[in-house]
Amino acid sequence: MNLNLQNKTAIIVGGAQGIGRAIADAFIAEEAQVAIIDREAEITGFLGEVRQADVADFEAIKKAADDLASQFRQIDHVIFSVGIGSGKTGFPFWNVAPQDWMQVLQVNLIGAVHTAQAFAPYMQQGDSHGRSLLFITSVAGQVGSQTDPPYSASKAGLINFMQCVARDLAADGIRSNALAPGMVKTSLNRSVWKASQVTESYQDWADEKIKRIAPLGQWQDPEEYGAMAVYLASPQAKNITGQTINIDGGQVMHS
Ligand SMILES: NC(=O)c1ccc[n+]([C@@H]2O[C@H](COP(=O)([O-])OP(=O)(O)OC[C@H]3O[C@@H](n4cnc5c(N)ncnc54)[C@H](O)[C@@H]3O)[C@@H](O)[C@H]2O)c1
Repeated sequence: MNLNLQNKTAIIVGGAQGIGRAIADAFIAEEAQVAIIDREAEITGFLGEVRQADVADFEAIKKAADDLASQFRQIDHVIFSVGIGSGKTGFPFWNVAPQDWMQVLQVNLIGAVHTAQAFAPYMQQGDSHGRSLLFITSVAGQVGSQTDPPYSASKAGLINFMQCVARDLAADGIRSNALAPGMVKTSLNRSVWKASQVTESYQDWADEKIKRIAPLGQWQDPEEYGAMAVYLASPQAKNITGQTINIDGGQVMHS
C-alpha cells in the first residue's frame, strides 16, 4: 500500500530507542524526512536530523522545534513517544510518595504539552490539511494500573490531552490520535521488572506476565507501532482523529 508519505516530514520525540525508534524507521521506509528529538544525543545507525532536548524543559523543546521548522520546509507529523516510570512499585499506591509523582507527570504529560505547544504553530502554517500528531500512551492509562500509579495517571492524562488537541486542530485539518502499547520488551519494560524486585529473571517474569494479562499471550514488537504510526499519518486515515488505538494482544477491549 502506498501511504503517500514521500517527502513529508516526521518528528519523533523520544525516538532514540525502543518504540520511538521503530516509528522513526517506519517513516524512513516510507521515504519521509525524519528528525529525532531525545535526551540522548547518540543514536546508533540513524542518519537523519537529531536534536538533543529534555521534554520536561519547554525552552529546550521550543528551540528544537524552531530549529527543525527552519531546516525543514514544513512540519507534517509529530509523534511523542517519550515515557518514563517512577522506578517504584506502586502497590499499594502509598508506596510511591507524592514527590515521586512529579517527574513522571512532568515528562510523560507536561512533556507532551510542551511538544504540542512548540510544534502546533508550525503545523498550522501553509496547507495544514492532512498533518497529524500521535501520542504514545499505554493500556495503563485506561485501567488504573496498580503497577505504577503516577505512570498510569500520566498516560490517562495524555489520552485526554490528545482529545483536546484533536478538537482544537480539527478546523485546520490536523488530526491527533494516541497509540496504546501493552507489553513490549524495551528498556522501559525492563525497568518495571527491576522496580518490582522479584527474584525471577526478567525473561521468566515477562513470560509469566504476558500469558496472564494478554488474551493473545504474546509480546508486542516495536515494529507493530511503526506500522500503525505511518498508517495513522497517511491520507488513508484521514477521518481518524481523537482516537486511542490499542496494540496490546487484547489486554484492554473497549467498544
Ligand atoms: N515498553 C512497553 O511495554 C510499553 C507499554 C506501554 C506503553 N509504552 C510507552 O511507549 C513509549 C515508548 O516507550 P519504550 O518502551 O520504547 O521506552 P524506551 O525507554 O525504550 O524509550 C523511551 C525514549 O524516550 C527517551 N526519553 C526519556 N525521557 C526523556 C526526556 N525527559 N526527554 C527526552 N527524551 C526522553 C529515552 O531516551 C528513549 O529514547 C512510552 O511512552 C511508553 O510509556 C511502552
